[in-house]
Amino acid sequence: MCGIVGCAGPEPVLPILLEGLTRLEYRGYDSAGIALQTGSAVWRRRRPGKLAELVAVVDDAPEATTGIGHTRWATHGGPSESNAHPHTDCTGRVAVVHNGIIENYLALAAGLGPSHERTSQTDTEVLAHLVEDELAGGSSLADAVRACLARVEGSFAIAAVNAGEPGLIVAARRGSPLIAGRTETSGLVASDIPAILGQTREVYVLDDDQVVEVRPGSLRVTTLAGEEVTPVRRRVDWDLEAAEKGGYEDFMLKEIHEQPQAVAETLRERLLPDGRLHLDATTLTEDQLRAVDKVFVVGCGTSYHAGLVAKYAIEHFARLPVEIDVASEFRYRDPVLDPNTLVVGVSQSGESLDTMEACRFAKSPTNKARLLVICNVVDSSMAREADAVLYTRAGPEVCVASTKTHLAQIAGLELLALYLAQLRGTLYPLEIHALVDTLRGLPTVIERALAHEDEYMEAGRRFVDVRDFFFLGRGVGFPVALEGALKLKEISYARAEAYPGGEMKHGPIALIEPGTVVVAVATRGRLHSKMLSNIQEMRARGATIVAVANEGDDETAAQADVVLPVPATHELFSPAVDVVALQLFAYAIAKARGCDVDQPRNLAKTVTVE
Ligand code: M6R
Repeated sequence: MCGIVGCAGPEPVLPILLEGLTRLEYRGYDSAGIALQTGSAVWRRRRPGKLAELVAVVDDAPEATTGIGHTRWATHGGPSESNAHPHTDCTGRVAVVHNGIIENYLALAAGLGPSHERTSQTDTEVLAHLVEDELAGGSSLADAVRACLARVEGSFAIAAVNAGEPGLIVAARRGSPLIAGRTETSGLVASDIPAILGQTREVYVLDDDQVVEVRPGSLRVTTLAGEEVTPVRRRVDWDLEAAEKGGYEDFMLKEIHEQPQAVAETLRERLLPDGRLHLDATTLTEDQLRAVDKVFVVGCGTSYHAGLVAKYAIEHFARLPVEIDVASEFRYRDPVLDPNTLVVGVSQSGESLDTMEACRFAKSPTNKARLLVICNVVDSSMAREADAVLYTRAGPEVCVASTKTHLAQIAGLELLALYLAQLRGTLYPLEIHALVDTLRGLPTVIERALAHEDEYMEAGRRFVDVRDFFFLGRGVGFPVALEGALKLKEISYARAEAYPGGEMKHGPIALIEPGTVVVAVATRGRLHSKMLSNIQEMRARGATIVAVANEGDDETAAQADVVLPVPATHELFSPAVDVVALQLFAYAIAKARGCDVDQPRNLAKTVTVE
């Protein structure tokens, strides 16, 4: 997803921008560019491809102390130099970078006078021309940005410079993330904290429709109407080290190994002595939660898979009906919501637009549902919309493919299920205590799974040349199969389809032939014997079986060609253990195929477009 960084200060800005862009690489991008403010104009360089392509062409950059940079993930117009940001106006004195989509850009472009020449296919460029017109009418850059954004429909985070106003960056947001930062001598903006963490720990989270004027050593925040706003200041207490690879070959491997800690941190001090769940923020009363008669869980990708696990847990422990929706579909299908509905938004970033909009829809005055958000980024847009927030404390996740935040989400959702059970009296206190103890032991069980790393990797390497995989699971093993297939697709580009084991016979079994690889999640649980029957059905048609099976389960091992052993835990908590085997299985295949596991092609860490 696009990334923005900008700095106005006393020092040469080029290295600061390039460092910031490097820190944004994890978001996924396909071109990059910078604009530096010089005396009379804006100096600009853009390149498709990786950041190194841009770095190779900035040797002749002029000395400048104010500038903006961008990594672009293509939406409107392919990843080319002309579509890369920053975009400039006709005079070359205004430069704009943008994250998001300007939905009415065609209408806005049609309203531009004939003197304007557009040079890209992007929705963004129209902004530079609109600002140009405002400046020509005598506005300052800040007034021009405010006036233009009042006409824009869609989601955006933008930053702009004007050659005529040295030492000033004007930035704004609606729907897409943007933060500002400050030191004694410089002002900064970025779409994400790591981009400016090398410069400052003092950050300010901006709200929708706020405009920030960034100058050396100062920030001024206003609404679109120009009213002054005091932004909330926050000190960042994690450092760049935490976002580095820590000795591992890539972030993905490091983050897989951080999973026990991510789960332990998420569970730490969550359950108060009186049995209440400690949420990070809440305006919900226990009575309101007790009155909940239906739960919807919404999320995308890996977060959606964690939500599926929650469905099993909440229905079983708390005896509440749960619907689970891919967030991008939720608000388009007339779900029946009211104040007794709890909507749980699950998101690593707290910024995925699909989930964000699903959450907003749930809370809208028409629907009035209660909104609880589970996310990993403090003060994210979703967290700020929510009635209650439970932060997964997994630390920054850099690899585009989620791993440790997934396990932390599962831990948080299991806690929520037990809390709802306690409120509703569907389990005896002693049962809840026993379950909480088991949950607290989960980090140790995950450690034990990680001890099998070599076996998982070796198994994966056996299937490097396989093109098609099937992943099967039953009950709570089905979300594990979905997540295992997603990991494999994302990082190795193999085709992987996931099905509930019992569904294969209704059609997909037609694709099974000798040599087809079937990865079966076959750990012990209520449906174990049925899963073994499904494995038999695949074997009978010549499939090669890779089974995720409990340590020492010889019965299951006897049905498989390859076993990925995992330690046992409570069935409903087992996804947080079983999926570890599949993460490393996928990792080994991707590495053996020479893939860039941290930044897979076409993917973005945070998807802030619809
Ligand atoms: O930040 P979010 O959890 O809302 O992101 C949702 C998905 O985009 C994300 O899980 C995606 O599927 C990852 N690439 C999974 O590895």
